[in-house]
Amino acid sequence: MALHDRISDPPTDFFTDNKSPDSVHIWNPQITSFIATQVAKHRPMVLVTSGGTIVPLEKNTVRFLDNFSAGTRGACSAEHFIRNGYAVIFLHRQFSLLPYSRHYSHSTHCFLDFMDLEDDGAGGLRTVILAQYEEEMRSVLKEYKRAKQENSLLVVSFITVTEYLFLLRDIAQCMAPLGSNALLYLAAAVSDFHLPPDKMSLHKIQSHGGRRLVLDLEPVPKFLRKLVEHWAPQAMIVSFKLETEERLLIPKCRAALKSYGHQLVIGNLLDRRKYEVILVQQDSERWIRVSDGELEDILVPEVIERHKRWAVKMKSSI
Ligand code: PMT
Repeated sequence: MALHDRISDPPTDFFTDNKSPDSVHIWNPQITSFIATQVAKHRPMVLVTSGGTIVPLEKNTVRFLDNFSAGTRGACSAEHFIRNGYAVIFLHRQFSLLPYSRHYSHSTHCFLDFMDLEDDGAGGLRTVILAQYEEEMRSVLKEYKRAKQENSLLVVSFITVTEYLFLLRDIAQCMAPLGSNALLYLAAAVSDFHLPPDKMSLHKIQSHGGRRLVLDLEPVPKFLRKLVEHWAPQAMIVSFKLETEERLLIPKCRAALKSYGHQLVIGNLLDRRKYEVILVQQDSERWIRVSDGELEDILVPEVIERHKRWAVKMKSSI
């Protein structure tokens, strides 16, 4: 069987079988107003998705399955997009890494280790940044403050795969009027399997009597096709492909491009994701490799170049 033949939709409609989560209605006014502000400023806009989705096993959730991702790719990329003049909607897994604060969280150092206490000369103490961290912290702080001042970042969060998909649909549809000025950069690690609501236990699954737990998960529908065809048909769509076996990476990137008809797949291997990625388009393949520093330093400007070319092409074809 060809790889792309395996990519198929399950027979049910995810969006009617699952109830729209409250968060979609809560976030919608902020998303709409953020987009309107950016349109007035003629800024290009990118939706960056980041972090892993969870699949709850119970409605009153005690246990769940998670998808691997710290959110580094997404948070780091968001900073680079903002630096390059984009407005960013950052749709991320709650408590995964955030742009700017990522430099000081989830590290082996506690953020308090970057600071010290000093005599204030008046019998008290004041907090200071340790000299060796000051320069870097000043530049991160400057960028963070500028992003806030210029209102170029909207942070939206999800937890479950259901919440992620509903929010993705809503944001993509809100961005659709931007046409080819919109870029969707889907770096989140999305679960391929889930437990539909009618199969989910209401309460905590009991383990008495040495019971085994056998999970029968259903496929999550492939949302990329809907994104390309219906939700934001003019936007440039960049998806990521994560594999652990090198021999599968390029064929799977190609299969995704062929199945969904979107513009760019960025492939990465789990253990080398920080140092190399491959950009796969219909007529090209390009590796980006770094030995130190952030890969996104090169990756994001490259994606932006391709987005510019896409926008020109779309505008000239109208
Ligand atoms: O956060 P880090 O630790 O830095 O890690 C970054 C990363 C490795 C998570 C990131 O670079 C990455 O590869 N993200 C995509 C992970 C992923 O979901 O890969 P996948 O091979 O399972 O899915 C591939 C594509 O299929 C996704 O881009 C998604 O848009 C699409 N998909 C997935 C599930 C689904 N039901 N429908 C889809 O269309």
